[in-house]
Amino acid sequence: MVEDTKQAPQRLLDVTDLRKYFPIKKGFLRREVGAIRAVDDVSFFINEGETLGLVGESGCGKTTTSRCILRAVDPTDGQIMFRSAVGEFVDVAKLPQSQLRLLRREMQMIFQDPFSSLNPRMTLLDIVGEPLLNNGIGNRSEREERVADALELVGLRPEFMRRYPHAFSGGQRQRIGIARALVLRPRLIVADEPVSALDVSVQAQVLNLMMELQEELDLTYLFVAHDLSVVKHISDRVAVMYVGKMVEVAVSQELFVQPRHPYTAALLSSNPQPDPRSRSERVVLQGEVANPADPPPGCYFNPRCSYATDICRTQAPQLTEISPEHYVSCHRAEEIELPGVVMADSNGIG
Ligand SMILES: Nc1ncnc2c1ncn2[C@@H]1O[C@H](COP(=O)(O)OP(=O)(O)OP(=O)(O)O)[C@@H](O)[C@H]1O
Ligand code: SF4
Ligand SMILES: [Mg+2]
Repeated sequence: MVEDTKQAPQRLLDVTDLRKYFPIKKGFLRREVGAIRAVDDVSFFINEGETLGLVGESGCGKTTTSRCILRAVDPTDGQIMFRSAVGEFVDVAKLPQSQLRLLRREMQMIFQDPFSSLNPRMTLLDIVGEPLLNNGIGNRSEREERVADALELVGLRPEFMRRYPHAFSGGQRQRIGIARALVLRPRLIVADEPVSALDVSVQAQVLNLMMELQEELDLTYLFVAHDLSVVKHISDRVAVMYVGKMVEVAVSQELFVQPRHPYTAALLSSNPQPDPRSRSERVVLQGEVANPADPPPGCYFNPRCSYATDICRTQAPQLTEISPEHYVSCHRAEEIELPGVVMADSNGIG
């Protein structure tokens, strides 16, 4: 018998039924009168060494999902299973604070705004070295050495470590943010819109740097963006969120060429490169995003969906695997034909 030597990808993160509700309080007694369902029953996984792009319009819950994974906020419900360096799965959602510290070394975040996320009164040495200091790692000279290494990794000269962030451009500041995220040598990086605040010309450089670092350091990325075009080249798989729900998850190529959820197709139609063959059938996104404190009954997307039927207005669809590794939450996913886009084989944004 011939043995199958191809190794199955290993899960690094497995999120199941994640919920984060923010209470709405009113009046003198601050009574709870409702909740913002920022993340409302979200499930997905990330394999070791891959990039999962997480996309959706503003307010759909991308940052809240990211913050739950890092336990920067406590989830309301759900499981966040993370495979630690010793190979054991731990539920980050339920881990006591005392054990979170060790785990946080393995997960780090890159923030959107390189201008406000770096303290202007700290030198690069203090900014990039702070996670080492907070975790009690190394003495001053060892920390300097590790900061120098991290700066080199992101293409900055180690002698810059005595300077302050104002001396650097937007792209360079984001490199500083990346160096800070890397200094503890984490396994998972959650990058929350890491290029959204940068000029388009600089965006491609930072994306390329992140891809090189992934290769070199065996990193796994959750890469958040509100625009599908940004995640196109960096993501192995893409997850699309709408009003706190996961609506579609698929391998990147498949999601772009053959979307199965009308919301994904609508996001793609607003992309500058629609498939010329299907230009006549563009899916236009109409109306306003639903209110996460008062979502419509049935499918949350139904008031904006041109494919909606009666069932969509009464029953919530469930995320279902309709073909291998392709998950969709739509009653009509099997029957409707949606236009995709052409995948150009270029590097960077486009
Ligand atoms: N601390 C909080 N308290 C109350 N509501 C919150 C809090 N944080 C987020 N929200 C609400 O939760 C919802 C999801 O917000 P979140 O920031 O996760 O969205 P997002 O997808 O990251 O949006 P953006 O693209 O604008 O960054 C929004 O309605 C937001 O107003
Ligand atoms: S379930 Fe219905 S309303 Fe929702 S996306 Fe599918 S077709 Fe549209
Ligand atoms: Mg956000």
